[in-house]
Amino acid sequence: MYDLIVLGGGPAGYLAGERAGEAGLKTAVIEKRFIGGVCLNEGCIPSKALLYSAKLYDGALHGDKYGISVKDIKLDHKFVIARKQRVIDTLVSGIKSKLKKLKVDVIEGEGFIQNKTAEGFKVTVNGTEYQAKRLLIATGSSPAVPPIEGVKEGMENGFVLTNREVLALPEVPKEFVIIGGGVIGLEMASYYNTAGSKVTVIEMLDHIAGPTDVEISKILQKNYEAKGITFLLNAKVTKVGKDSVSYEINGKTESVKADKVLLSIGRRANTKNIGLENIGVYTERGAIKTDEQMRTNVAGVWASGDVNGFSMLAHTAYRETEVAVNDMLGIKDRMSYEAIPGVIYTNPEVGTVGYTEEGAKAKGYDVKCVKLSMMYSGRYVAENEGGNGIIKLIIDKKTQRLLGCHMISNYASEIIVSAVQMIETQMRIKDIKKIVFPHPTVGEAIREGIFEFHD
Ligand code: NAI
Repeated sequence: MYDLIVLGGGPAGYLAGERAGEAGLKTAVIEKRFIGGVCLNEGCIPSKALLYSAKLYDGALHGDKYGISVKDIKLDHKFVIARKQRVIDTLVSGIKSKLKKLKVDVIEGEGFIQNKTAEGFKVTVNGTEYQAKRLLIATGSSPAVPPIEGVKEGMENGFVLTNREVLALPEVPKEFVIIGGGVIGLEMASYYNTAGSKVTVIEMLDHIAGPTDVEISKILQKNYEAKGITFLLNAKVTKVGKDSVSYEINGKTESVKADKVLLSIGRRANTKNIGLENIGVYTERGAIKTDEQMRTNVAGVWASGDVNGFSMLAHTAYRETEVAVNDMLGIKDRMSYEAIPGVIYTNPEVGTVGYTEEGAKAKGYDVKCVKLSMMYSGRYVAENEGGNGIIKLIIDKKTQRLLGCHMISNYASEIIVSAVQMIETQMRIKDIKKIVFPHPTVGEAIREGIFEFHD
């Protein structure tokens, strides 16, 4: 009998194993593919390995701006893909050995919830039965597949890719069409553009990067148009053919040639075929409904990560899992989504947290938006010849607190965490002013922005 069985070994699941194991709960993590889940094996981590190679290559290509000339520079895609696998293997083995050290069992196979009895929950994996006092559902999400003509067939014959295949392509496609200009679409557009593909992004909204501040989304688009990516906005894909994608734009149907197509239009929670109905777990629009402690409607069952369909990000999953495990241990905790950072690891990067100006106003806040060019940072100027980055701080005039921070800049992914801390701990502007930032850093732009706020 386990104290806890975790279904799924991605960021939500393996961290649950670690936290519960550290707390002395007898725990098993069931995983049907790879420990580390989509994030580590087919998402966040491998894409960062690809994007780092692209960034170095891009830097060398434009080295002349910084007094560096390199001859015969090339990006070896096969090498990049092989290195990506080494990065994954290193991290997966690290997680496995940590779970082993904590005496957490990793059960390979597909877990299925059979029932709940007085003894607890019964879960089967490949015909073997396991019992647990508690369950944590962390089965993640899968790519959304739209009912568009030709998509299913294209996925079956390898013409249409998802996050899984796009990170393992043996060759760089000549003409690469991306359906969906969200995070996956943009990061992959960024890599394959640098690697030599002619990239076209088809997006149904009038802007890329989804909920990102619109001005920042426009700057990102401008930078990538300058690098040769074509963006088709307000465009609705109508058909995927054998070597093309058709779309409707301004009332007309047009098409673009493609060697490969990436489908990146969002993800759906994995709630099917795991036996949730056998114990009566409530789902809403295909995702498990959870409360602030990540409890489901069934006593003894928690859910964390993408499966609750809320904020499909690995770092959200980590925190949700910690809240769930704390709740199991009787430690008071609650999940807050107010300071969840969002990052797009393009070049330049986008980092955002909290409210946009429009979002804050819509919620009734009386805000001041401080907008600065990143050129206010000395290090940014030194490192970004011709850079057009900006930072925006959204400040609540009434409470004098930071409500949001949005930036497009190098290192934005690393810098944004200081704004996350300021928002999460509800710091007041007068206290933020006392923080000493190292000089010169790109992150000092936050400090500059804070000092631009005058009551
Ligand atoms: P997404 O939700 O970020 O973007 C999907 C985009 O596709 C949206 O802009 C949407 O308007 C567009 N779209 C939807 N249907 C369409 C259609 N039929 N034709 C054209 N455009 C259409 O989803 P994405 O990029 O697939 O990413 C999935 C998840 O993975 C997200 O929840 C994201 O948070 C996570 N992720 C996070 C990353 C990061 O934090 N850096 C990196 C990659 C993924």
